[in-house]
Amino acid sequence: MIKSTVGRRKFLGIAASGLAWLTSPRSRVRGANDRVRIGLIGAGARGQELLDQVLTLTNVECVAIADVYKRRHDEIRQRVPSVSAVDDHRRLLDRKDLDAVLVASPLHIHARHFVDTLAAGKDLYCEKTMTWSIEEAEECLAAAKGSDRVVTVGLQHQSSGALADAKQWLKDGLAGKITQVEAWMSRNTPHGKGQWVRAVPPDCTATNVSWDLFLNGQPRRPFDPYKLINWRLFWEFSGGNVTENMVHQIAWIMRALDLPLPTAACMSGGVFSEKDGREVPDTIAVTLDFPNDLVVTWHSTFSNKHYGIGERLLGSDGTIERLMGSTDMVTGVAETGIHYYPEKVNRPDGAALKGQTADQNHMANFIDCVRTRKQPNASVEIGYRSAVAAHMANWAYRQKQRVTLEMAKSAATRG
Ligand SMILES: NC(=O)c1ccc[n+]([C@@H]2O[C@H](COP(=O)([O-])OP(=O)(O)OC[C@H]3O[C@@H](n4cnc5c(N)ncnc54)[C@H](O)[C@@H]3O)[C@@H](O)[C@H]2O)c1
Repeated sequence: MIKSTVGRRKFLGIAASGLAWLTSPRSRVRGANDRVRIGLIGAGARGQELLDQVLTLTNVECVAIADVYKRRHDEIRQRVPSVSAVDDHRRLLDRKDLDAVLVASPLHIHARHFVDTLAAGKDLYCEKTMTWSIEEAEECLAAAKGSDRVVTVGLQHQSSGALADAKQWLKDGLAGKITQVEAWMSRNTPHGKGQWVRAVPPDCTATNVSWDLFLNGQPRRPFDPYKLINWRLFWEFSGGNVTENMVHQIAWIMRALDLPLPTAACMSGGVFSEKDGREVPDTIAVTLDFPNDLVVTWHSTFSNKHYGIGERLLGSDGTIERLMGSTDMVTGVAETGIHYYPEKVNRPDGAALKGQTADQNHMANFIDCVRTRKQPNASVEIGYRSAVAAHMANWAYRQKQRVTLEMAKSAATRG
């Protein structure tokens, strides 16, 4: 159970009564150029990318960061010399001058940072996957629904032009009945170097890291710099490639097809590419069942990147294919973009189409919503649904059995 560890602001109680807009200064619609002050929790690789993105926008200022590792304070000060840097995110959330918080901490702490940010009355951009577990996903969804804050999730494919194209083609009925979706994601690394493995910097020592804050309630143990830097490889802190990458694609598919939660999940695979001590599998085959006659599969490998990333929505009247760096089997040319191909058997006169809609800037969309109080492209609901789908798959893998939604939810409730 994630309980807020910061003091609740008075107006959150008012928010629950639906009167927040009368009294909360931060709920007011603001001008397009009004200054937005942001804080960043978790200033590692992704946090620094998010910071770069947000600082390109007009009238946005980063005033504070929280990171348990001192090195990150120095790295951010090189970009923003005036920034206030603390170890404990609660000290950042105490600040009255923050409008919004970007969370890019490791997965096992997302829910803590999510709930505390809303309780402190700040708008929130939380990196994907929204949470580490189904139980936390339920709690974060409830926290967002009980708050008047703007909440978005770092599922940037939700801002892609390809999503708008796919939705339009589906609305126009061009694909007919879709019974199967196949999706894949593939990478490769030089022999002996496992995907995601990062070198531990020499300054990553117990003195420079608030290890207990990183553990966030996990069983205490001596400082382990390898796990701090390579948290992605271990179940305690991560959900592996399903929460790192499948979540982007399943969220995209769920939005394109307006899918509810899966009814069941299977997942097989293992640590096959580099046996480097990691726990999370590098080779994965997921099957997700959805209501109304639909099966979605997602395959992933870290030993071959020939086919890049993609999704194919297979319908009786046509196919919608989105490719990101897949190599054409015949021509060897790498493809990117979204296309529609008619099934001649049911649409003899149908023509192939190429998506034309431009991508939106996902971060700009969030900042715009902070000012306008509109709903961002990646809502908390899609953050929730994609997180539950990912955790069902991982749970099936770890239980070595097919898992239904009911089984997954009741296991989550039991903890
Ligand atoms: N949307 C995307 O495309 C995308 C891409 C990469 C990463 N991500 C996500 O971003 C998140 C971070 O990934 P990363 O690669 O930047 O990891 P990282 O390890 O490089 O950075 C995480 C940072 O959080 C800090 N940290 C750890 N515990 C903390 C705590 N309790 N309070 C404050 N800071 C804490 C660490 O010291 C580190 O600097 C993950 O959830 C990941 O899935 C998203």
